[in-house]
Amino acid sequence: MTCVIISIVKILGIETSCDETAAAVVEDGASILSNVVASQVDIHSRYGGIVPEVASRQHLITALPVVESAMAETEATWQDIAAIAVTMGPGLAGSLLVGVNIAKAVALAQGLPLIGINHLEGHIYANWLSGDEPVFPCLCLIVSGGHSDLVMMKGHGQFQRLGRTRDDAAGEAFDKAARILGLGYPGGPAIEATAKDRVPSFALPRAWLKGSDDFSFSGLKTALLHLVRDNDFSDSSRVAEAAASFQQAVVDVLATKAIQAAERLGVKQILLAGGVAANKALRDYFISNSPVPVLIPPPGLCTDNAAMIAACGYYHYQLGKIDGYDIDVIPSLSFG
Ligand code: KG4
Ligand code: ZN
Repeated sequence: MTCVIISIVKILGIETSCDETAAAVVEDGASILSNVVASQVDIHSRYGGIVPEVASRQHLITALPVVESAMAETEATWQDIAAIAVTMGPGLAGSLLVGVNIAKAVALAQGLPLIGINHLEGHIYANWLSGDEPVFPCLCLIVSGGHSDLVMMKGHGQFQRLGRTRDDAAGEAFDKAARILGLGYPGGPAIEATAKDRVPSFALPRAWLKGSDDFSFSGLKTALLHLVRDNDFSDSSRVAEAAASFQQAVVDVLATKAIQAAERLGVKQILLAGGVAANKALRDYFISNSPVPVLIPPPGLCTDNAAMIAACGYYHYQLGKIDGYDIDVIPSLSFG
């Protein structure tokens, strides 16, 4: 008789890099057992953007209850958890410190290994939670509030950054454009909703940066600012057309450059990740135009969450990449 040993690895993920307090339990890097996100968006929208001091204080209030909820929503006990994975950077220093210190305290109290995770790597691993397992080599486009990175991934933990934004990140550009158009915060979902079914009738510039895999969105933002300043935008349908024009310019540049790089490098797939990947116009453009399959997490796994951190932690755990209890936050952490 053959005896098959099935090992199940459950990782608790903790994410507090920006304004979402999140904890999740993920099994074998693929199955979400719980995924709790406490958003601070209502608090920060009053100020038109994230206030770092407020964010870290709010994490202090919500982090432990969020971890407790993530554990309570599973059948798991602490004995069933193999390790704790926590975002150590990039992000806001005060926010990261809350998550890392809670992860350290819980890991020490429960005698569990601790794994520090790069938030951007975590975003990529949201693609392992969606059913279809990604195939290497793949090209990852990470588009969030702080980053727009084009990264080659040849295997688990093997990343090479090809390009990045030279100024504003794509999400940051959406947030600033929404402010210019008076659409509130967070800007990405506001622009998307306003632009829905509208014709992008304004000609806005695209920075192609030929010969480079870098991006630039500050010229586009300035062009939108001048358009709104120099013309009458009291009519809401003109605002909607400007939102659609802005969105189309961002989508054109991100997708065209990523698809060109994918063709040049001969990758098997493109993976999208980060909050801006929740944008339907971007998702549709990639799906219609990419010559290779495109994997995109569901919108709720594109924006910040801890399931992606736990999934990434699983592969660190399998590769033996365990950290000491003395890990520190690295607010400016990037890819290699
Ligand atoms: O990945 P994320 O949740 O947090 C960071 O790591 O920054 O990304 C947040 C960013 C914000 O700039 C937000 O405006 C943008 O993602 N975003 C979107 C959409 N949903 C969120 N941008 C465009 N369209 C969306 N639907
Ligand atoms: Zn993020």
